[in-house]
Amino acid sequence: MGQDMAQAGSLLIEQIGTLAVVPPGPLAGERMRDVRLIYDAAVLVRDGRVVWFGPARDAPLDEGTITLSAGGGCVIPGLIDPHTHIPFVGDRSGEFVRRVAGETYLSIMESGGGIRSTSRAVRSASCEDLIAENLPRLHRMLELGVTRVECKSGYGLTPQDELKQLEAIRELDAQQPIALAATYLGAHALPAEFDGRPDEYIDTIGSAELLGEVVRRGLAEFCDVFCDRGAFNVEQSRRILARARSAGLRPKLHADELAQIGATRLAGELGAVSADHLECIDEDGIAALKQAGTVAVVLPGTSFFLGIPHCDARRLIGADLPVALATDFNPGSCMIDSLPWIMNIACCQLRMTPTEALAACTANAAAALGVHRRAGAIEVGFDADLVVLDVPSLDAWFYTPGRPRVRTVIKSGQIVFHKPGRAL
Ligand code: NIG
Ligand code: FE
Repeated sequence: MGQDMAQAGSLLIEQIGTLAVVPPGPLAGERMRDVRLIYDAAVLVRDGRVVWFGPARDAPLDEGTITLSAGGGCVIPGLIDPHTHIPFVGDRSGEFVRRVAGETYLSIMESGGGIRSTSRAVRSASCEDLIAENLPRLHRMLELGVTRVECKSGYGLTPQDELKQLEAIRELDAQQPIALAATYLGAHALPAEFDGRPDEYIDTIGSAELLGEVVRRGLAEFCDVFCDRGAFNVEQSRRILARARSAGLRPKLHADELAQIGATRLAGELGAVSADHLECIDEDGIAALKQAGTVAVVLPGTSFFLGIPHCDARRLIGADLPVALATDFNPGSCMIDSLPWIMNIACCQLRMTPTEALAACTANAAAALGVHRRAGAIEVGFDADLVVLDVPSLDAWFYTPGRPRVRTVIKSGQIVFHKPGRAL
């Protein structure tokens, strides 16, 4: 998916105080620190791609080149959020208050709340309602420097309502600059009408007809399953993901979030593109991901929001895995929509370095979406998805996560956001 917004002529971004040259992913372990800084730099963009970058004094200047000043700020690759639950509707602030008072995510889910609550809201919403409520969310993400986002179904929980969510994602992709990748998550929760019949539900939501329709209409690239205690077991998850893979969807898993039931081992077995959450990952799970080349997507906003132990990201990096970060933005377990906040939590709570956190939200996030050969890096020939920050150093940006630091966002070579009041 994504938009092809080629721009005639060339754009030279100049007066860059610090250019953060993130190499193409996946970057495993120590390689996550391979970000090279060029001070007093420039980047030349043509036809939506990066054609040159380096010290400003060496910048080529062609006839007809338009210039854009970075005002002495930092330039980074556009941020990529490889795990969200957009599009959703409804409000679960009551569950937030119940959790703060001591209930758990699982107990609220077992009492009929959780995903089922959002599912009721999504079922009664039209595709237009889904678009109207989620477009502003994407606009907010763009203003934070995000240029690519993964979105999922998973709140419809009937074939028609799941398709409605995927259609809303396609329309949202067309209506704003962020490139969206779509994931089919029919196996997110067991809907009430299938209580006691999870295998029948898997057969309904994983039927050859439905998976075939999703692929034929280009409505999703990935198929995800919530494989955990209180959701779907390993055998059920394997069944739907194997069928989805044969139909042409690449597997992803919500794995090892609430309990250790072998979900990450299944991710490795299926050659999943990513395994996400991993708060309860074990040694076998780590070995399985390494063997399969699966990206580990860590979601520290969720553990923060739920008050559960964080994933041990240092252990994953130490095991030489490529680690990505994402918001998991959803109405239940994480209402944080800001990747800069997630990077700050990753630094302060998971002890990731700022450089590792940047690589995790760019090169490795691109790998978690299978687009690492064209996105997530500063590289000649790559998509010109670039963010100009209003701070002179990366450290200053990480240090002040709540401030609006984005000056300009460039998507496929076009300026799609510019902070009011800043000179172009
Ligand atoms: O990633 N864990 C499963 N799914 C989401 C939560 C969805 C919800 O509660 O609405 C997650 O945390
Ligand atoms: Fe999630």
